[in-house]
Amino acid sequence: MKLEIRNVGKTFQSKSGAITAIDTATLNVRAGEFVCLLGPSGCGKSTLLNLIAGLDKPTRGEILMDGKPIGNTGTDRVMIFQSAALFPWLSVFDNVKFGLNMIGVPKPERQVIARRYLAMVHLAEFENAFVHELSGGMRQRVAIARALALDPAVLLMDEPFGALDAQTRDLLHGELQTIWQATCKTILFVTHNVREAVVLGDRVVVFSARPARIKREWTVDLPRPRQIESYAVVDLARDIMQTLKDDVLVSQRDNDAQRLSELEMQMIGDDVL
Ligand SMILES: Nc1ncnc2c1ncn2[C@@H]1O[C@H](COP(=O)(O)OP(=O)(O)OP(=O)(O)O)[C@@H](O)[C@H]1O
Ligand SMILES: [Mg+2]
Repeated sequence: MKLEIRNVGKTFQSKSGAITAIDTATLNVRAGEFVCLLGPSGCGKSTLLNLIAGLDKPTRGEILMDGKPIGNTGTDRVMIFQSAALFPWLSVFDNVKFGLNMIGVPKPERQVIARRYLAMVHLAEFENAFVHELSGGMRQRVAIARALALDPAVLLMDEPFGALDAQTRDLLHGELQTIWQATCKTILFVTHNVREAVVLGDRVVVFSARPARIKREWTVDLPRPRQIESYAVVDLARDIMQTLKDDVLVSQRDNDAQRLSELEMQMIGDDVL
């Protein structure tokens, strides 16, 4: 489904006054497009995903899916977070079936759907396992299967691989590309890792420091599957990093010292040095 973000702004009211997280964002995402969002910490990326998910309302502007304003949360737009947010008291199978239960899918169908997506993320043999028995990468795979089981048109992924080690992340990059190609989902993927954005995205959109506006965007027309270490990926990532760097520094000045993001430092270390 086509997603249109039209002149969207978001201002939060807090005890210390109003905080404008997003100034104005306008972004058109084609059906089946994979768009990666980059920007300094605190610039409003998660806020934008929350607005698209319907978890919160924009202060200005509107969000449309196939021309219709989105409502509250719905199974057409599903979020995947950095922490997999699984239910520890449920098995892997029951975690994936949970949302299907909520929307009233009959039991035999639930089982078929859950098994299909567990197979897709290579966890068929772990359906009876519990969350504490899984590695971080496996947990994220369950979260992906759980989201896909709802058959959303749009997947909203907020730093889903941010807490994983590099090898697991690379593996999941490959798997996510395969899943995306097989399912034709529209994906919005927030990351702090510039190379990850280049590996995954059809398009990489860079936000400015808060209040966020779209600063620049790149179309990535490298052949897939892409490798994170390839020269083409590293070259484009370096170019994007140059644009991002100034805003990361502005945002660091704005944040107090305690909130200086380790992630940003890593990102600079990763991609600029
Ligand atoms: N519910 C809220 N109430 C008040 N302020 C909020 C709320 N949610 C977010 N903010 C503020 O909005 C700004 C943007 O936050 P957001 O979480 O969207 O940033 P982000 O780009 O996702 O950052 P990060 O990369 O660190 O995850 C921040 O200044 C944050 O403090
Ligand atoms: Mg965030």
